[in-house]
Amino acid sequence: MAWWLIALIVILALLVALAIRDLVQTADPVLRTFPVVGHFRKLLSSSGPKLRQYIVAANNEERPFSRDQRRWVADTGAKKSAYFGFGTDNDIDRDSHLIIKHSTFPDATPIAENAPVPCAKVVGAWRDRPGAFRPESVIYVSAMSYGSLSAQAVEAINRGCELTDSLHNTGEGGIADHHRHGGGLIYQVGTGYFGCRNTDGTFSMDRMVETVQSANVKAIEIKLSQGAKPGLGGVLPGKKVTKEIAAARGVAVGETVISPNRHTAFGDVASLIDFVEAIADATGLPVGIKSAVGQQQFWDELATQMSSRQQGPDFITIDGGEGGTGAAPLSFSDHVALPWRAGFARAHRPFVEQGLDDHIVFSGSGRLGFPAESVLAFAMGVDLIGVAREPMLAIGCIQAQRCHDGHCPTGITTHNKWLVRGLDPTDKATRLANYIVGLRSEILKLSHACGVPHPALITADMVELFEEPHKAATARELYNIHDKSDLGTEIEVDIRAVMKHHSA
Ligand SMILES: Cc1cc2nc3c(=O)[nH]c(=O)nc-3n(C[C@H](O)[C@H](O)[C@H](O)COP(=O)(O)O)c2cc1C
Repeated sequence: MAWWLIALIVILALLVALAIRDLVQTADPVLRTFPVVGHFRKLLSSSGPKLRQYIVAANNEERPFSRDQRRWVADTGAKKSAYFGFGTDNDIDRDSHLIIKHSTFPDATPIAENAPVPCAKVVGAWRDRPGAFRPESVIYVSAMSYGSLSAQAVEAINRGCELTDSLHNTGEGGIADHHRHGGGLIYQVGTGYFGCRNTDGTFSMDRMVETVQSANVKAIEIKLSQGAKPGLGGVLPGKKVTKEIAAARGVAVGETVISPNRHTAFGDVASLIDFVEAIADATGLPVGIKSAVGQQQFWDELATQMSSRQQGPDFITIDGGEGGTGAAPLSFSDHVALPWRAGFARAHRPFVEQGLDDHIVFSGSGRLGFPAESVLAFAMGVDLIGVAREPMLAIGCIQAQRCHDGHCPTGITTHNKWLVRGLDPTDKATRLANYIVGLRSEILKLSHACGVPHPALITADMVELFEEPHKAATARELYNIHDKSDLGTEIEVDIRAVMKHHSA
């Protein structure tokens, strides 16, 4: 019999088998009614996002990150020219378009290539913490745990942070060996107290001190919530708790672990401040909090109590509702917590009113890892920018949005041996470093265009947004931002001197 006839018979037999399976199954009514051909609908709908991403979508479409944004990160990471030709393809007078207002007389101080852009404030200075320090980089990698990220991805990030003197936030999954490649750490503590817990899941100060002393930890962040899923706990199923994950988190191998939706070590603003102070006393390190912004009362009360007690967090990270996550219900990601701009403005204001904003280092995260968005954040009052998904893009993420199902094709959010093989931590560390250096450098160039030597000196009048077609307002007007004589004269003099020191 001819080979093609055999092939035809085999194909027909397979199709008949598939048709029988479709007809007898009860889970999918489309396949039961349209055996075999029903699979084409599935194939097309699963290919839709990919086809749109590569062929149909315009440069500024797609969320969370547009093609232009992804290209900018990838090109900057690969040290290719991140220039675009022919001029803007945006409608620049509508859709909240951001305009940075340059000075006719830009700052002309020459800046060395790869110059660091240090933080304008010293973290922990106000409360005189023994471990107070000035972060060398205004950009740091925001919290993403080992567990939600692969070992290779965590290692690449830590090495990339080391290369750029940037901080690496561990995320709430504890400190693993992959976090120990030289990059300075912000150790994040969530409601599961991973790395600082007793066997019953409550907080242990002794374990906290041990963990902090075991690694290159520069600061500690107590996570109250994150923008993508505030007020929601989490479960790590026992089958995912490998030996390495168990060691990092301080739990038993194979044990299902629960992160409650709120802390058990404190329950109101006063006890939160006590908790911060107790950790700072025991470790000597600056201690901060991270939160998305929901009900205003918390921020008003925190600022009031910090002012009357002259105690409390050394830094405050505000995460926007547009923030990322490994996995969350859509209702939480889409609808819980304010977007970054509105949230930051509301949370920051009470600290300004209490005269505390010069003492606290403010950090922001929520799609801020691009030069213009960073400038807006600085203009609104941040001192540091945390970036999470943008570094993922720099180390190879293609926005497949498979972080939650273990099938990330780029090996970043999976532990599948075959998939992680593709991610070389040393190569990707360089990509991340190039992205951070490129981002800092462009932020600095924008600051110079505005006539100031450091992004913290950009004011809320220097940035406008087109809220309605053809109608713009300054960030100060839109978000009711205080006057930026705010950056106390001492801090301003200090950061000007630091930048002069770094000039070429
Ligand atoms: C895969 C992944 C894991 C994350 N894990 C944590 C976490 O453990 N703790 C936390 O506070 N935020 C976590 N986040 C949120 C980020 O730290 C960040 O706040 C948010 O994604 C906004 O930054 P971006 O827009 O630059 O991604 C995670 C985000 C991603 C994408």
